[in-house]
Amino acid sequence: MANVKFYAGESFPLEMHKVRIIQKLNLIPIEERQKCMEAAGNNTFLLKNRDVFMDMLTDSGVNAMSDRQLASMMAADDSYAGSETFTRLEKMVKKFFGVEYFLPAHQGRACENIISQVFVKKGSVVPMNYHFTTSKAHITLNGGTVEEIIVDEGFKIKSDCPFKGDIDIDKLKDVINKWGAENVAFVRVEAGTNLIGGQPGSLQNLSEISSICRLHKIPLVYDASLLADNLYFIMKREKACAGMSTHEIILKIAALSDVIYFSARKLGFGRGGGICTNNSEYFYRMREMVPLYEGFLTYGGMSVREMEAIAIGLEETLDEDMISQGPIFIEHMVKELDRKGIPVITPAGGLGCHVDAKAFLDHVPQSQYPAGALAAAFYIASGVRGMERGTLSEQRDENGVEPMAHVELLRLAVPRRVFTLSQINYAVDRLAWLYENRRLVGGLKFVEEPKILRFFFGRLAPLSDWQTKLVEKFRKDFGDSL
Ligand code: F0G
Repeated sequence: MANVKFYAGESFPLEMHKVRIIQKLNLIPIEERQKCMEAAGNNTFLLKNRDVFMDMLTDSGVNAMSDRQLASMMAADDSYAGSETFTRLEKMVKKFFGVEYFLPAHQGRACENIISQVFVKKGSVVPMNYHFTTSKAHITLNGGTVEEIIVDEGFKIKSDCPFKGDIDIDKLKDVINKWGAENVAFVRVEAGTNLIGGQPGSLQNLSEISSICRLHKIPLVYDASLLADNLYFIMKREKACAGMSTHEIILKIAALSDVIYFSARKLGFGRGGGICTNNSEYFYRMREMVPLYEGFLTYGGMSVREMEAIAIGLEETLDEDMISQGPIFIEHMVKELDRKGIPVITPAGGLGCHVDAKAFLDHVPQSQYPAGALAAAFYIASGVRGMERGTLSEQRDENGVEPMAHVELLRLAVPRRVFTLSQINYAVDRLAWLYENRRLVGGLKFVEEPKILRFFFGRLAPLSDWQTKLVEKFRKDFGDSL
């Protein structure tokens, strides 16, 4: 966002765009919200969007598009093979990352499927700063093991470390020694580390990782899904990069990586994904998988309209005004909550605001899913839908043992250019009320637990009548307010 100083002294986020299309929202009464939560099995994924006021579940595929993106969708060239649309997207991706080869896929996890099938075999290991749910699932499905080697600071809720998403270089060396370089399928670096609070990694760290990978001939795979936020933080927080343009930084990141993949539901504000590389051998091996799982090589499961929008979205990602909107709104939200004493991850990261459910509900044991309970309670209190990012998002091991997550978070995603500042302030206000009344909130238990990615459609129930008590307190404090 532009550097605008305010006469009043205090500054606040200033949008560098205007709203030209709107969607009406519903805010239903709290009694109905309680019923909806019950019908959804206390899982915010299972809510109907018509019952949601602010949808802060994710930023995936729900960022607001620009007028240029919408216009481009009307000029798409619909053809199974060889469409002009694909040629435009391919050209843009190659320019954006400075790469030779591009493979389309229908979304980020489809890229993870292809990469895992090509590189991971039984007994191999994939060291990474931190896992993402789908990335880990694909690696383990192919018989691999994930080793998380993020810097210790990454797990600290309150910190002033600017790059909590960095890999600990000593841990990386240890993992390679322990497993042997030949058993390391690849090293995965995730931009804007999703599950620990959207925390960025530095260019310096990537450069050190890349040197080690090249020394041992281990491929370096970069997950660029959250690159836009990470870029902004590199520009603002990494002294050595001050004055560099967004594109210069992207080209440096790409040059240090062997394979780059992205969810275009996040990067480029469309719905799709893709894999890039400069390595012809990797390209040909991965290419075989595209027609099998995704579709022909010139669409890979994406609609031509989305491909046009992604091409423009990538071009717009080079604009600092565009990539700064999310981080600046998130910073505002984090600062407001922090000021009220509500435990949130600091420094503010990308993607969204992350509330520390372990501290918020310190009376709810981890085995009763405090982050899931907080997500349910917050929807009831506000109509705002967040996402559990804690033990519920973990998977049982082969012996059925449930690992406790490193952190228990309620993620309140801030889709880019979607919410106004007053809506963000509403979410802060209701969270502050919930914090005052946190002792009313109890735990959850599973009533239906799927084996894979259980957080998506598992169903839970409250362990007592705590939700009814919460509704009663709301009515006492707010009268007939929605
Ligand atoms: N990698 C990262 C870092 C992600 O955040 C995601 C998706 C993926 C890969 C998978 O991409 O959804 O297009 O298949 N994150 C979404 C989220 C789902 O809500 O954080 P996908």
